[in-house]
Amino acid sequence: MCGIVGYVGPNNTVDALLSGLRRLEYRGYDSAGIAVVDEAGELTVRKRSGKLARLEALLEVSPVISQGTGIGHTRWATHGGPTDVNAHPHLGDNGKLALIHNGIVENFAELRAEVEADGVELLSETDTEVVAALLGLEIAKQGSLEPAFRSVVKRLHGTFTLLAMHRDEPGKVVSARHHSPLVIGLGEGENFLGSDVAAFVSSTRRAVAVDENNIAIITPDEVRITDFDGIPIEFAEYEVEWDADAADKGGWSSFMAKEINEQPEAIANTVRGRTAGRSVEIPELTALGDDRLRNIDRIIIIACGTASYAGQIGAYAIEQWARIPVDVQLSHEFRYRDPVLTDRTMVISVSQSGETMDTLMAVKYAIEQGVTTVSVCNTQSATIPRESDAAVYTHAGPEVAVASTKAFTAQITALFLIGLHLGRVRGELSTEALAEAVQQLEELPEKMRVAVDTHAEITQLAHWMADTRSVLFLGRHVGFPAALEGALKLKEIAYIHAEGFAAGELKHGPIALIDHGQPVFVLVPSPRTAPLMHSKVVSNIQEIRARGARVIAIVEVGDTAVLPYADEVIRLPLTDALFEPILQVVPLQWFALELSTAKGLDVDQPRNLAKSVTVE
Ligand code: F6R
Repeated sequence: MCGIVGYVGPNNTVDALLSGLRRLEYRGYDSAGIAVVDEAGELTVRKRSGKLARLEALLEVSPVISQGTGIGHTRWATHGGPTDVNAHPHLGDNGKLALIHNGIVENFAELRAEVEADGVELLSETDTEVVAALLGLEIAKQGSLEPAFRSVVKRLHGTFTLLAMHRDEPGKVVSARHHSPLVIGLGEGENFLGSDVAAFVSSTRRAVAVDENNIAIITPDEVRITDFDGIPIEFAEYEVEWDADAADKGGWSSFMAKEINEQPEAIANTVRGRTAGRSVEIPELTALGDDRLRNIDRIIIIACGTASYAGQIGAYAIEQWARIPVDVQLSHEFRYRDPVLTDRTMVISVSQSGETMDTLMAVKYAIEQGVTTVSVCNTQSATIPRESDAAVYTHAGPEVAVASTKAFTAQITALFLIGLHLGRVRGELSTEALAEAVQQLEELPEKMRVAVDTHAEITQLAHWMADTRSVLFLGRHVGFPAALEGALKLKEIAYIHAEGFAAGELKHGPIALIDHGQPVFVLVPSPRTAPLMHSKVVSNIQEIRARGARVIAIVEVGDTAVLPYADEVIRLPLTDALFEPILQVVPLQWFALELSTAKGLDVDQPRNLAKSVTVE
């Protein structure tokens, strides 16, 4: 939520900032702005409400030249609407200081009163401008940026990443991190700051993750990190695994289309190195010690949104293979229910970004209670995996579209691997069952390619459904969370009312929604590996069809039982019932994308949303 970028170096600063903001725009697109020290040595700001393209258009008609120091911001509005005046950067110290912010300053009302009492006239409704004003007043007292910045960050409550620069101290950007992400990019004679590595990965793959409650100061030749009192902190750099091209659209019409298409590789990369000789070994779990894993008597999976549906699917597999009871809880509900946790509980968080504030806070709570924490995450060195006892990374590559696709199927894959690892260590899985599951996992990428190829069929379907106002999704067992995910995708990017139901629940109320022509997607379990569930779902199809529903059945190839009752049939490759949602969700992803496109909407940047939700 909000993307921030900072640059110091000899190159075109505006280009460096815009290139970073383009890659961070998924974090928020309510407004965008930059501040630079220009060629005349003045602090110059350009900012605009709306998407980054509007700022770029402004810079075309009102260019600014800088080879030196700058900060840039793309906003997801919290305090104050998405207007030009509320856009970041905000100014202090009579226009000599610029500041940008990701997060929420909770004590801003009291600080606002203080700076106004000191005679500062504030222009915007934002909490950020109050911090800029406070910093300006502090600089007037203390004479320079760094000590003033330290004093100010200590006074702020809430969550923040802050970047600030001053006209009279060119060649320097100061930054602070408190519960919001911040990464440094190390270049040759230039350095970068960003909300994540996407901000600078086209220039350098050397990165440093800034820790909680630290301040980072960058100049072209130096990077320093201190705590909030100015005490130096040692740091280590790491090599970013993603390459810059992975975060580009390539020839695709949208990032979402590209990412749906990348799912075979995302799954293959997540499995690679973790299966060998028909068995599963996740080194990060082995490092926890087998005795600790054997001692676990309960697992709680915490996540939000799409990641929570991946968690629900993973829960079935972990229970089946490791015979440990698994609950799935939304991260933002978890800690408020006073959960029963013991030293035998394992909390598994699932998060693509690794920065979702609700999930991070739930993980911190779990750590305080002394439970074992495992993170399933797609973003190297993000906060959640760094805080957790073990990190099991999905290797889906950067996911830029706001609607999650490849991260979802990679998360399910990682949870399945965890279930198999635990089942093996705890002696709950026979060698044959383990070997069979490994084979299913290894065959998944190829089957996924066939699922991705349903695109053309789905495009036709979406074409005649472009005016649809409501769509229902039905699934049973692991198909239920997949149905919820299908509905979420449609709400999120096509703004169409959609609901997912457990097929068995239909008769307990929701069937009243079925009217003539109501489109219903039904995820049909495999008749070979789940015959009982299959026959129940076929009955459910008959029930809704009798009431006028228009049924789109997603079945495994060769399932003819549904043919008499389905209006449309989408066929997917054979796999075990447990693995089916990984394939079934793909046509649902395409459906949401095609309906969004047919309505002329922005597939990658749906209204009101941001990719990384870093406020609670
Ligand atoms: C929906 C979507 C969201 C995220 C949720 C958690 O397409 O992407 O529902 O799944 O905000 O985000 P992460 O996985 O980054 O914690």
